[in-house]
Amino acid sequence: MSFSTHIVGVGGYLPERIMSNDELATIVDTSDDWIRERTGITQRHIIDKNQGTSDLATQAAQQALDDAGLTVHDIDAVIVATTTPDMVFPSTASMVQHKLGGKGFPCWDIQAVCSGFVYGLAQADGMMKGGMFKRVLLIGAESMSRIVDWSDRNTCVLFGDGAGAVVLEYKDAEHGILGSVLHCDGSYRDLLMAQHAHPGASPNNDRARLDMNTDAAGVAAVSMKGNEVFRFAVTKLGEVVDEVLGKHDLCKEDLHWLVPHQANIRILNATAKKLKMSTDQISITVAKHANTSAASVPLALNDLYRKGNIQTGQLLLLEAFAGGFAWGANLLRWSK
Ligand code: COA
Repeated sequence: MSFSTHIVGVGGYLPERIMSNDELATIVDTSDDWIRERTGITQRHIIDKNQGTSDLATQAAQQALDDAGLTVHDIDAVIVATTTPDMVFPSTASMVQHKLGGKGFPCWDIQAVCSGFVYGLAQADGMMKGGMFKRVLLIGAESMSRIVDWSDRNTCVLFGDGAGAVVLEYKDAEHGILGSVLHCDGSYRDLLMAQHAHPGASPNNDRARLDMNTDAAGVAAVSMKGNEVFRFAVTKLGEVVDEVLGKHDLCKEDLHWLVPHQANIRILNATAKKLKMSTDQISITVAKHANTSAASVPLALNDLYRKGNIQTGQLLLLEAFAGGFAWGANLLRWSK
């Protein structure tokens, strides 16, 4: 045995309100058929106007702590991966610490959009290996409904709100996180972005129409060149899988489970084909919660875990692709 970082608790949370494709079709010129066929999405969850991203994150975190049989007092740091923080500052992670009843230990947010959780897992693992922390609570949480342009059918149909969390523990035990690879190419900024705007500056961001308004200081609207993002994502996700497996002298055939970012069922199917994996080996949750950005990888992990599908020693690959473009993967042997 040797020391490594292990996932010892898993949790997820989706806000109560469900918005169906049919409901969306009353807001923009779209249809249930189009959305299902082009994306695999059937519904998304929408945050309540009285909730913030930190509330979703806290719910997921509490479930992960319960699952680990731990409390916030056993935790040495909280990291929240989010693009949709409650406020510009303080960090969402500090709010989660407070809501969980913790105090004193470090908390911070990281922003790598849909790759935030994968980046966060790499960061936490590195810091734990470096001896800084024994237990870290890592959360991916988003309120994408607050930054989508609800008049743009090209993008608003794709996103939803939610949170997923893991408790990480550095210990002397078999298996655990083997390693991660991360990438970014900032030259692709214009293909997928959300620009800041001042309140009222964006007539397209009429959140009040959806009764989702908050008192947030500013708003932003997602814009995307979907086709180009799609092509780049499929290529890079294939490459990053080869890269991380190669670094650990493993091959595609060794993988038991793929836990990918949930953006579009067609991206997942194309990745499965590239990896010669059966779709049964892929955690697919995009249908029920759409693209929840940084929350989607931990939500997909939570789903797979709660179904009782993951066996000790099995090889899992987590991967994500995001605006930036920023992409990456984590490789681990399940050990909980
Ligand atoms: N409802 C109905 N029609 C729509 C629509 C909607 N919600 N959104 C777009 N369309 C229309 C377009 O206007 C276009 O019409 P046109 O041919 O008359 O111009 C047509 O559907 C096809 O658009 P296209 O962009 O070619 O569709 P697509 O098959 O590429 O699917 C996406 C669009 C966005 C679903 C797809 O490109 C995608 O998933 N891209 C990657 C997104 C992603 O992963 N983003 C996040 C990364 S983290």
